[in-house]
Amino acid sequence: MTAEITIAYEDVYKRFDAPVLSGVSLSVMRGETISILGTSGTGKSVLLKTTIGLITPDRGDVKIDGESVYHSSGTRIRDLRKTVRYVFQYAALFDSLNIFDNVAMGLEPETIKSLDKNVMLERIATSLENVNLDPRKVLSKLPAELSGGMRKRVGLARAIVGEPRIILYDEPVTGLDPVNSATVNRLIMSIAERTKVTSIVVTHDVEGALEMSHRVALLDNGKLRFIGTPDEFRRSEDPLVMAFADRQAAARAALKLIEHEAGDEDNESGSPHAVSIGV
Ligand SMILES: Nc1ncnc2c1ncn2[C@@H]1O[C@H](COP(=O)(O)OP(=O)(O)OP(=O)(O)O)[C@@H](O)[C@H]1O
Ligand SMILES: [Mg+2]
Repeated sequence: MTAEITIAYEDVYKRFDAPVLSGVSLSVMRGETISILGTSGTGKSVLLKTTIGLITPDRGDVKIDGESVYHSSGTRIRDLRKTVRYVFQYAALFDSLNIFDNVAMGLEPETIKSLDKNVMLERIATSLENVNLDPRKVLSKLPAELSGGMRKRVGLARAIVGEPRIILYDEPVTGLDPVNSATVNRLIMSIAERTKVTSIVVTHDVEGALEMSHRVALLDNGKLRFIGTPDEFRRSEDPLVMAFADRQAAARAALKLIEHEAGDEDNESGSPHAVSIGV
C-alpha cells in the first residue's frame, strides 16, 4: 500500500427529508480496504453511492485520484467512474439473464465489442473461478437456480471481471450464514491482495470487517464518529464503538459497576447493594 489517496470524500453533505450525511470527510489510500460500519439508516449506502454519482451530494465533493467525479469534464467523469465497480446490497443480478451474461455486464460495452468471443469466455470463466465457482456448472444457469451464497459470489465475479481499480461492496454478506459469510469475506480479501484494488466495504459483520480491513470507520448521525485500525477500534473507549465491537455487555457491566461504586460512597447506612453486572 502506498500513501497515494485513491478516493477522497471531502465534506460531503446530503439530505433527503432529513439530513443524512452532515460533513463526511474520508481519504481511502491506494490498495487499502476500509470497512464502514453503522446502524441501519445512517447513510452508509448513500455515502457509497456518492462515489459514482448514483446520489449527488448537496455540498462537498468526491475525488478519484485527485479528480472530482462531479466537477470534471463529462468524458473525464465517465472515465473516472468506469474504474469503479459497485457490488450492490442483495447481489442485484438480472433474473432473466444467465450467469455468463450477468458477469459480462461487468465489462464495458466497448470491451465486449473489442474482445474475441473465446477471450471473453475465458475472462468470465476466470472471474468465476476466482470466486470459487465452477464455470462449467454455473455459466448457463439462471440466478434463481443458485444458492444465496453463490449469487453473492456471482456479484463479486461481475465486479472483478472488468479489472476495476476500486470496488465498493454494499453489505456483501448480509443474509448469508456464517460459513458463507466467512467465504465471501475471504474472497474480498483475496481479491484485494491479488489485484491491489482499493476497496470500501459497508457491512454489519463487525468481526469480518475487523479481520479484512486496514481501517474501520463508524458512521453515526451524519458524520464519521470513528476511523482507525482494527486494533484501535478494539481498544476504543467510545461507548458506541464498544457496542459495535461487541463489548456492549462489557460496557453495560462497567457502567453498572461504576453506578454501584458511586452508590457505596453515598450509602451512609452501609446496607448492602444488590450487585448485578448483567453479564
Ligand atoms: N434515494 C433516496 N431518496 C430518499 N431518501 C433516501 C434515498 N436513499 C436513501 N434515503 C434515506 O437516507 C437514509 C440513509 O439511507 P441508507 O440506505 O444510506 O442507510 P444505510 O446506512 O445504508 O442502512 P442499511 O444498513 O439498512 O442498509 C435513510 O433514511 C433513507 O430512507
Ligand atoms: Mg445500506
